[in-house]
Amino acid sequence: MERLQKAMAHAGVASRRKCEELIAQGRVAVNGQIVTELGFKVDPDTDVITVDGRPIRPERKLVLLLNKPKGVITSVSDPQGRRTVIDFLKGVKERVYPVGRLDYDTEGLLLLTNDGELANLLMHPRHQVPKTYLATVKGIPHGEQLDRLREGIELEDGRTAPAEVEYADIDMDKNTAVISITIHEGRNRQVRRMLEAIGHEVVRLRRIQYGPLTLAGVPRGKYRVLKPEEVRELRDAARRSAVT
Ligand code: URA
Repeated sequence: MERLQKAMAHAGVASRRKCEELIAQGRVAVNGQIVTELGFKVDPDTDVITVDGRPIRPERKLVLLLNKPKGVITSVSDPQGRRTVIDFLKGVKERVYPVGRLDYDTEGLLLLTNDGELANLLMHPRHQVPKTYLATVKGIPHGEQLDRLREGIELEDGRTAPAEVEYADIDMDKNTAVISITIHEGRNRQVRRMLEAIGHEVVRLRRIQYGPLTLAGVPRGKYRVLKPEEVRELRDAARRSAVT
């Protein structure tokens, strides 16, 4: 327990003396009750302290990992009334925003956060962490075609950076293949365009990994909150990925 003015000063509201003035002016409430007594004791971890009705603690920073289904738009709202990724975050009070974008028909791992600094770091072109996709394509690409993707391929917005590309599955009967592709960029519709450039249409696309994070334990349409150490690892991965 600590004196109210001290807890306020620790939270960065103002100097202790200025906080005493705020209390004396009747502008400070503890758990909804105005407190004007300077010696009032609070528990800064559990008591809700407000100044002029506003909580002194900033909103907690949150990073969510959503397993996005297909047929869902990566946006906080849609004028056409389509389902958005926010519709899958029942129970989340914080205003979170998607980190980057998955196409309407792309499934899989999408991060959302209210931490603007982290979002900027992850979306910065110089700090792109590796992202792995499973792309189901029509027809079965030859090994040399996959080599072209590994080396970098010319797209209308320039040559792609080298990618890691492997066969994940081949279905001779259906004449389809599943290609695992890891890219270090985040261009619009990049994976679909890369595979189209070698002559194979993508019929299903799923992001399964984002830096150190995977979809493990998160069913389609569900989300989980990242632990502080996972957020730290993500930040570290982005810093390590810096292109100089
Ligand atoms: N590449 C694509 O083509 N689409 C996505 O949604 C993500 C990466």
